[in-house]
Amino acid sequence: MRSRTWMAVVAGLAVVVVGFQFLAAQSQVSVAKAAEPAAAPHAQEMSKVTMAVAVVHALGDHKVKGKVTFTQKDDGVEIVAELTGLTPGEHGFHVHEFGDCSMADGKCAGGHFNPTGMPHGGPDDAKRHVGDLGNIKADDSGKATYKRVDKLISLNGSNSIIGRSVIVHAKADDFKTQQPPGNAGDRIGCGTIGIADPKMQMAH
Ligand code: CU
Ligand code: ZN
Repeated sequence: MRSRTWMAVVAGLAVVVVGFQFLAAQSQVSVAKAAEPAAAPHAQEMSKVTMAVAVVHALGDHKVKGKVTFTQKDDGVEIVAELTGLTPGEHGFHVHEFGDCSMADGKCAGGHFNPTGMPHGGPDDAKRHVGDLGNIKADDSGKATYKRVDKLISLNGSNSIIGRSVIVHAKADDFKTQQPPGNAGDRIGCGTIGIADPKMQMAH
């Protein structure tokens, strides 16, 4: 009788000890969890992309080449492009979904970057692909410049263009035709968009 009582007491104590250990482990878990959110936003803030660059090279037998920069401004992303080796006139100018410029016809760059499922349009249209940057116009010497602040394109988040590509077309984008989008003809230039160091780019 007596030894049974002791056994019951010992068993009861064991349950209490295990219970305390369980609670202690739980509180450690919750402490670890509580510490995470404080660290994460800081890390994200530190790694926010503020500038990107694409070096455009010619596809196939075409001659176009140059550079496109994307810089975060207060009211959007400023896009500045300088290209040479174009035929005079307007050329469709887009961000395409994939950053793969390895094929001579540029097909592996995919379609226009369109994360919001919109129809094709011009850069100032309310409904457009995120990648619809309109046209870049070359002068008689084949030189073209482009400078605009875009409200849709982003360097971070779901509309981020990092790792995608800039494509230059043989013909002008009409902003209307849906298939092929803009009816801008062949892909003649391609550049993969990468993260740039603003300090290095300013020094140029
Ligand atoms: Cu295109
Ligand atoms: Zn488009």
